[in-house]
Amino acid sequence: MRIVDIISKKRDGLKNSYEEIYDLINGYLDGSVPDYQVSAWLMAVYFNHLSSEERVDLTEIMLNSGEKVDLSEIEGIKIDKHSTGGVGDKLSLIILPVVACAGIKAAKLSGRGLGHTGGTIDKLESIPGFKTSLSKENFINLVKKNGLAIAGQTASVAPADKKIYSLRDVTATVDEISLIAASIMSKKLAIDTQGIVLDVKVGSGAFMKNKEDAEELALSMIDIGRKHGRKMSAVVSNMNQPLGQMVGNSLEVIEAIDTLKGVGPTDVTELAEVISSRMLYLGGFSARQSEKEVYEIISSGAALNKFKIFVESQGGDPDIVEYPYDKLPVAKKIIEIKSKHSGYVKKIDTEKIGLASMLLGAGRAKKEDIIDPSVGLKVLKKIGDRVNLDETLVKLYINKKDYDEAEKLIHQAYEITNDKTEKEKSVIKIY
Ligand code: URA
Repeated sequence: MRIVDIISKKRDGLKNSYEEIYDLINGYLDGSVPDYQVSAWLMAVYFNHLSSEERVDLTEIMLNSGEKVDLSEIEGIKIDKHSTGGVGDKLSLIILPVVACAGIKAAKLSGRGLGHTGGTIDKLESIPGFKTSLSKENFINLVKKNGLAIAGQTASVAPADKKIYSLRDVTATVDEISLIAASIMSKKLAIDTQGIVLDVKVGSGAFMKNKEDAEELALSMIDIGRKHGRKMSAVVSNMNQPLGQMVGNSLEVIEAIDTLKGVGPTDVTELAEVISSRMLYLGGFSARQSEKEVYEIISSGAALNKFKIFVESQGGDPDIVEYPYDKLPVAKKIIEIKSKHSGYVKKIDTEKIGLASMLLGAGRAKKEDIIDPSVGLKVLKKIGDRVNLDETLVKLYINKKDYDEAEKLIHQAYEITNDKTEKEKSVIKIY
């Protein structure tokens, strides 16, 4: 079929067959289909969406465009996790050691941060000596030995997604649920695991701004995963405020260590426990057993010890566990951003908090930007908290002289009213 006919079918709300999607995507990859035709198809998908079958087909085609990560040498149950991205999300650093202690094999490929959201690889690289670029052999051996390893995503996984994502970015077609689902799953399914737990964030700091869209995305990814033979679970979690208090690379490592010590913020602890339990559940534990096991692994200190082994095995300084503020790079200059009103925190525009952290140097506006691992911010007031005039809302950890824009963003992010507001739940729904 001619490419123009494939586009017109989608424009008219009809379904594209596997062959049609294959010709379009592979033609784009080999250069025989121009980007204006793929752009037109993406816009037609934006308005008419993809059926469940089309989503599975698109995922498979993008998945097959690249390499698969073969983990068959690793014995045991391999369960992966994925977060759709947020502000202050340091959960992988906590969850992977926990599930590894329960005997699950956690071989994770993670990404870097962009824009207002952070990335696990940047957080890990704030640990002195830590290596995220591992040979395949080393990665597999570490998982075999310790039960976990985290390395940077390779470009060889789903190159079609990479090319299409860049086009979506400049054609205003990123935020379409079927395209997001296929994009994420094409990369997740490239890693050889028995199951995947998805953390789908919803709220002012997330891709998905409302609960309905987040639930649809979760169900869509579950459907794609199950049709590819994986055990799937999803947790829809709150991103109406940063997760925990710390935002920024070394600061988030510190908060992850605190959580593993049992003294982390409640929302981080609760969500880490829920996602870890779901990973154990997919790995064959009963629902009750999973929760009990996770609780015991954290409270006994076993997960903290596993984290230390993980850090040391990937070349990092294990002393960060005992002396986080001495051994991790933390900016020495602290600026307190104080409230201009008294009342209760009603809303936090979390994307603005993420952008403020980015402006301080903790994140990247463009892929090529260099980050400063030592900077970021600490959010002292969350939704529902009482605030007095001149009380500190946020502490900035800075190295730059100029923090005016970040300060402005923090003030814009907070909505403080006289009405008492309920605190937000961290877990919204579990599938
Ligand atoms: N993350 C992805 O990997 N793909 C999307 O389309 C959106 C978020």
